[in-house]
Amino acid sequence: MSFPKDFLWGSATSSYQIEGAWQEDGKGPNIWDVFSHTPGKVLNGDTGDVAIDHYHRYRDDVSLMADLGLQAYRFSFSWARIIPDGTGAIEKRGLDFYDRLIDALLEKNIHPMATLYHWDLPAVLQDKGGWTHRDSASWFADYSAVVHDAFSDRVKMWATLNEPWVSAFLGHGIGIHAPGIKDPVAAFAAAHHLLLGHGKAVQAMRAQSSDSQLGIVLNLAPVYLEGDAPDDHPAHTSVALHDAILNGLWTEPLLRSHYPDLLLQLGDVVTGNIKDGDLGIISEPIDWMGINYYQDIRFVPSDVTPSADPMNPPGTDLPGTVGVEPAPAIGNVTSFGWSTTPDGLRALLVTLDGEYDNLPPIFITENGCAYDYPVEDGVVNDTLRVTYMHEHLTALLEAIKEGVDVRGYMHWSLFDNFEWAEGYRQRFGMVHVDFDTQVRTPKQSALFYARVIADNGLPSA
Ligand code: FCB
Repeated sequence: MSFPKDFLWGSATSSYQIEGAWQEDGKGPNIWDVFSHTPGKVLNGDTGDVAIDHYHRYRDDVSLMADLGLQAYRFSFSWARIIPDGTGAIEKRGLDFYDRLIDALLEKNIHPMATLYHWDLPAVLQDKGGWTHRDSASWFADYSAVVHDAFSDRVKMWATLNEPWVSAFLGHGIGIHAPGIKDPVAAFAAAHHLLLGHGKAVQAMRAQSSDSQLGIVLNLAPVYLEGDAPDDHPAHTSVALHDAILNGLWTEPLLRSHYPDLLLQLGDVVTGNIKDGDLGIISEPIDWMGINYYQDIRFVPSDVTPSADPMNPPGTDLPGTVGVEPAPAIGNVTSFGWSTTPDGLRALLVTLDGEYDNLPPIFITENGCAYDYPVEDGVVNDTLRVTYMHEHLTALLEAIKEGVDVRGYMHWSLFDNFEWAEGYRQRFGMVHVDFDTQVRTPKQSALFYARVIADNGLPSA
């Protein structure tokens, strides 16, 4: 049950979810500050104002990572901390925070893995249209160049975007994430500009240094239709569209320089954003690809009105929602209501590997689960998280044995933290955080993970 030599073991977080210090040292507001301060958007009115106060506690947090034996730490930069207005003037105190963090990691021999954008767009840029504005691609590339220039001497692994599907479709399509827009047209525009921004950022960083390892982090998953739907039922088209929007919309332009035909058939909503030369920029070669995997996606057919067209659903529904509903959750269902489907990770990786000759080396950049266990006598006995890790690492090992080039695994998350629209309710951490006192308590899963890292493999039981 051993992993390949030099396999990289780590854990992941993101700026808005842990840093707090939302108005400190010149940081500008970002779209999550605005969204979480808007009544009704986040459960219980929770915000990231304080979060887990990592901005002030980073040194202790890094020591804790070292105690667990982490070899890598995936974190993200807060754009509005570094360039408060989104473009233009640089806030040195913002850069200084990351400078201290990176040095603290390196002192402990922990490899920094940086993400440039984990959803916290400077609010001023949203006022100009955010990712629906074509210039967002250049705003992002310019910001990326500033950060890369500051840290590429010490940070070797860079991801441009985290889960652009979420930014585009949860942020602009159904609006449950910042900036809270419900408009499929905006969602596809954001998707294209995110991809274009990725490509432009890769070009800008490549020009600065040739030894940086540049990549992108995608949330991909197998999409299935279960149950019996007659051949002419729209569920078939809807599920194919779901798959195309979740997976192909990202992998095809990035690795094959074109959009999936099924999406091009949607017409202007997709094609209207694409200009000559864009796909060449988007498919700029990358050195690695990050995959975030939580569960596979399963649908069952549902009743539909006879005229319903899956390509053009009524109202503000996204294409791919007609005639389907989510299948009931299976496995050790998490507190979020998510299924646990470890074999989906193996299936996803093996399918991608078969599909793309030019698939870059893969890092699992997120994988994890929300379960709520109390601290009892200083112990958090989160057995279901240990099971989740064990099952998913076993599936990962199977994919590696089937020939997929996977180079590392980052568990989501190191700490309980601000889980977006769910506020502090969903606890994904291997380390429990008391949100009143900020006391950190490693859970049993953290101790299990420390053993996995030390052995570079899984215990056989
Ligand atoms: C992913 C996000 C991460 C966290 C986990 C649970 O989609 O990248 O920030 O919220 O889900």
